[in-house]
Amino acid sequence: MSRPSERADAQLLDERSPLAHTRDRFRVPDGVIYLDGNSLGALPVGVPDRLARVVEQEWGDGLIRSWNPLPDGGGDWIGLSKRVAARIAPLIGADPADVHVGDSTSVSLFKAIVAAARLRPDRRVLVVEPTTFPTDGYVAAGVADLLGLELRWCDPADPLAAVDEDVALLALTHVDFRTGAMFDLPGITAGAHARGALVQWDLCHSAGAVPVGLSDADADLAVGCTYKYLNGGPGSPAFTWVNPRLQADARQPITGWMGHASPFAMARDYEPAGGIGHWASGTHPVLALSALDAALEAFEGVTVEQLRAASLSLTDLFLELLDERCVPRWPEIEVVTPRDHARRGSQVSFRHPDAYGLVQALIARGVIGDFRDAGAEPGIARFGFTPLYLRHVDVHDAVDHLVAVLEGEEHLDPAYASRNPVT
Ligand SMILES: Cc1ncc(COP(=O)(O)O)c(C=O)c1O
Repeated sequence: MSRPSERADAQLLDERSPLAHTRDRFRVPDGVIYLDGNSLGALPVGVPDRLARVVEQEWGDGLIRSWNPLPDGGGDWIGLSKRVAARIAPLIGADPADVHVGDSTSVSLFKAIVAAARLRPDRRVLVVEPTTFPTDGYVAAGVADLLGLELRWCDPADPLAAVDEDVALLALTHVDFRTGAMFDLPGITAGAHARGALVQWDLCHSAGAVPVGLSDADADLAVGCTYKYLNGGPGSPAFTWVNPRLQADARQPITGWMGHASPFAMARDYEPAGGIGHWASGTHPVLALSALDAALEAFEGVTVEQLRAASLSLTDLFLELLDERCVPRWPEIEVVTPRDHARRGSQVSFRHPDAYGLVQALIARGVIGDFRDAGAEPGIARFGFTPLYLRHVDVHDAVDHLVAVLEGEEHLDPAYASRNPVT
């Protein structure tokens, strides 16, 4: 096939896709082209029934008994976090025994950064990348303040240049939330290790869309949310991975009873549970974890390689159509996502002087992406490509809508002059 600039070509790509069947595992509203799965994933079809069952039967009828396994096979809330961890582990190239699920991403970052700093007590610097997602920088600054460490900003083009013998931890986001640019996780991990530092990866924009390979890379710590490509629902709990080589010595700071070696012994003094068990703090959010558990069923029978191939095919098509149909006519569109597959996550972003209006005008047509402020630079229109439910024809149709918006100057509608609280 030549360049798939015709809709029929896009349709052919969908027919041949090994993931053609997984769209049925989601509820994508009619008339919507959903390009925001990098912010909040679509609703997997199994979630409503699971939540109803957990609420009505396990909570309503089972009451406190549901913390233990029930005779009908339900309940066992106490093991829920581990069951969810087992579903996430293959998607990040990890062993289930090394994954904890239960806190928010920001809290997980806090626990991991404190633990990492304590593992390198003779080193006084935390290195963070200035364009990272704000919470990562804010939490690192909070930890630096708490432990009396120095926060050092690195050059995103060469994070290792900031890593010297004073650095305890290099904390990076694997895929940049604005541009979709992806760091070389194994290469940077190895480079930091050669300098004696640990590396913590934020996988919010990676898990469920791009291969991560934490064990193969011998990474140190990783944290990621589950409400984007993992489709766990708004505010679903985050995961933390700790390399087993560090688990015996790593100490996270929120030493709650659920991370105790024997919570129901109700002992006075804290004794950490072995392995990843120590990373739990309090009672886990059963409803949210149940939704996430059901959501992750959408990945059954799907390999990370299939996800990556489908994601690249979708982002390639969007980039090609932008180049062919939009950039020549509206040169103010500046694509900021890397063309190189090795450097690209699962989203495509471009700057535009009216990026907010463009995104809003597209949403009015049912094409949902989002806008991210970029400070003094023109804002960014972001489009995420979730390989489980997005088709090539959707990409094709989305670009048709974009052309129509630009031709009709719909993005200049004064209604878009003031921004919604969430952009
Ligand atoms: C890279 C990254 N880290 C962290 C977060 C958010 O953290 P939390 O789940 O605590 O709100 C996001 C949210 O979009 C993100 O993109």
